[in-house]
Amino acid sequence: MSKSIAQILKLKGNDVWRITPDASIYDALALMAEKNVGALVVMEQNQVVGIFTERDHARKVDLEGRCSQKASIRQVMSVDICYVTPQTTVDEAMAIVTESRRRHLPVMENDQLVGLASIGDLVKASLDEKDFEIKQLKRYIKGDP
Ligand SMILES: NC(=O)c1ccc[n+]([C@@H]2O[C@H](COP(=O)([O-])OP(=O)(O)OC[C@H]3O[C@@H](n4cnc5c(N)ncnc54)[C@H](O)[C@@H]3O)[C@@H](O)[C@H]2O)c1
Repeated sequence: MSKSIAQILKLKGNDVWRITPDASIYDALALMAEKNVGALVVMEQNQVVGIFTERDHARKVDLEGRCSQKASIRQVMSVDICYVTPQTTVDEAMAIVTESRRRHLPVMENDQLVGLASIGDLVKASLDEKDFEIKQLKRYIKGDP
């Protein structure tokens, strides 16, 4: 059984960088640069209403003739979000990002946003797990206790 999203959040924390739909694209980009992240969860009245990612910026701003200072996040955010829960396994979440071509999964529990797992978090958790398994197998082969 692979690790759970809860185990990833235990290490990385529950903070989620967020923005409102009426903020400008420019403000979102400034926040993403400041926090060194590739996505912001869009929240309105304490509800998740979308996600804004570097990919949304790449495809929906200059290419569609929008000005980042004037256009709002609401105009370019993605609304078809894939969620996970703390109980979702890393393997299940990997399958979701692979099939849906998303890189960021908001983590929801009882209708509340409790974290965010990115593709990098999932790859790292998966590699750590494989690393641990290899060490265990090597120890077993050598006959160490
Ligand atoms: N060494 C690590 O622990 C680790 C973890 C994640 C990513 N990375 C590396 O960073 C690079 C980019 O990562 P990425 O493609 O996963 O995306 P990313 O740059 O958006 O994410 C980087 C980190 O920021 C977090 N993050 C992103 N948006 C967030 C938000 N709105 N609120 C809170 N946290 C947020 C992610 O969960 C992840 O831990 C990759 O090269 C990846 O391998 C390393």
